[in-house]
Amino acid sequence: MADQDTIRIAVINGDGTGPEVTAEAIKVLQAAAECERFAYELEHFDYGGDRYLRTGELLPDGAVDALRTFDAILLGAVGHPEVPPGILEKGLLLQLRFQLDQYINLRPVQLYPGVDTPLKGKGPDDIDFIVVRENTEDLYCGAGGVLKKHTPDEIATQTAIYTRKGCERCIRWAFEFTRRRDNPKGKMLTLVAKTNVLTIGHDLWWRTFQDVAGEYPDVKADYNHVDACCMWMVKNPEYYDVIVTTNMFGDIITDLGAILQGGMGVAAGGNINPDPGGTSMFEPMGGSAPKYTGQNVINPIAAISAVAMLLEQTGQPAAGARVLKAIRRVTGTKMKSQAAGCMGHSTSEVGDLVVAAL
Ligand code: IPM
Ligand code: MN
Repeated sequence: MADQDTIRIAVINGDGTGPEVTAEAIKVLQAAAECERFAYELEHFDYGGDRYLRTGELLPDGAVDALRTFDAILLGAVGHPEVPPGILEKGLLLQLRFQLDQYINLRPVQLYPGVDTPLKGKGPDDIDFIVVRENTEDLYCGAGGVLKKHTPDEIATQTAIYTRKGCERCIRWAFEFTRRRDNPKGKMLTLVAKTNVLTIGHDLWWRTFQDVAGEYPDVKADYNHVDACCMWMVKNPEYYDVIVTTNMFGDIITDLGAILQGGMGVAAGGNINPDPGGTSMFEPMGGSAPKYTGQNVINPIAAISAVAMLLEQTGQPAAGARVLKAIRRVTGTKMKSQAAGCMGHSTSEVGDLVVAAL
């Protein structure tokens, strides 16, 4: 039996390049544990496309309850070329987010040193903000239906569900987070929504945001429509400190954010259940990249960044900061590019370089 201070981590390698990037993330975790003298324990779960094709099962009975007992989950990638779209995403990734009530999806948009951004004239000081994406509601609920399918009269609905409780807990967490982040440029939380069109659902978000903002006079409460936000992210990314937004918009703007920070090989996210005893899940944002699978060319930086977030969230902030610092040293001085196959190093060499930089 592990003692109380041991971080118990469930590892789901998942599909495609998931196992390769996760192996590097774990290599760095191991080295960080030696430097910072913390204990951890891993247990591997083989959930993903291969298991599904073999057994027809996504998450077997009792799987979620077993995962719930861990301090954190490290996830590689979800997506298999032989499994139709939606099955693994809904049956595995979204199931875990929902059932473990990971209501915050935390996505830093941070340009590391030495990394190319497609934005002309912008550098690491300009591209450094964080998106807090609500992670359990909205169009992701799967509410809706279809009538007269495959006929010319077909009707399909897909309903966005927002609850007061759901948006309030997310908005409050985002205010707390903005306060803690304490940006020297000024603390500002921007609500990103579409109140001029979604006058019902996003009115709930707007009113809730106003109510909660009253409790945080030290944080500037700001608002952008989502379309304008896309424009500002490209034109003036330095404007942002923390963004809080709905699930669907958060999904979309964080892919835009990912490309600003150098692409899917770099961007990581945390699916966080901040409640006492909650189990959070950390993942690189990139998919399973089937065409690169098994070639030792995929970029593990995002998966390693996911470990940094995991450590930060599981009571080892010094270790998390150490990993982030090592990542910056490696992107800044050792890597040619963040694109798969163009890094100037293999996947495992990048992992070794981060370990050496710890
Ligand atoms: C993400 C992904 C997922 C999402 C997919 C794979 C279901 O795009 O984590 O952003 O839409 O949330
Ligand atoms: Mn996405």
